[in-house]
Amino acid sequence: MKQLLLTVLSCTVLLSPAFAADPVTQRQEIFKQYKQTVGTMAKTVKGETPYSKDEFAKLAAHLDALAQQPWQHFPAGSDQGKTGARAEIWSKPQDWKAAIDRHKTETAKLKQTAAGGDLAAIKAQFGATQKTCKACHDNFRND
Ligand code: HEC
Repeated sequence: MKQLLLTVLSCTVLLSPAFAADPVTQRQEIFKQYKQTVGTMAKTVKGETPYSKDEFAKLAAHLDALAQQPWQHFPAGSDQGKTGARAEIWSKPQDWKAAIDRHKTETAKLKQTAAGGDLAAIKAQFGATQKTCKACHDNFRND
């Protein structure tokens, strides 16, 4: 039993730095989910797929949950290698934080609007949310 515990412990110790060392992959994985979620919502907003209140509300709630996640994976110095992250993220931390806050505010509103089920209001709020993606990418991401 003691042996097993030791094995488990040493595996944990060995594995965790490997995960922690790759914040770029972690945040990119989250942004990929963003893309998928927003893409599915966009089809409904454009009228390409029928609107279902429950489905859309679920997607909006998922997006709101995603909006809490990428930002912890931007430790200083992680603008090296295969990343679209610009140095401004770390040289303009207040602007970066403001961009995150605006984004979180709009996704929270979208979740609320989607739960209400008023499609016209949802479309407007979806546009407002997407603007916060673009605004941040324009300033903090290389294409
Ligand atoms: C506060 C800033 C910010 C906001 C808001 C933001 N992004 Fe990003 N996004 C980034 C940064 C920075 C990267 C580059 C990450 C990297 O490559 O390390 C990125 C990368 C991406 C990527 C590329 C991921 C990959 O595979 O490399 C996609 C797709 C994406 N974002 C979609 C979105 C969508 C959709 C939204 C809005 C719902 C959004 N982002 C909101 C900053 C933001």
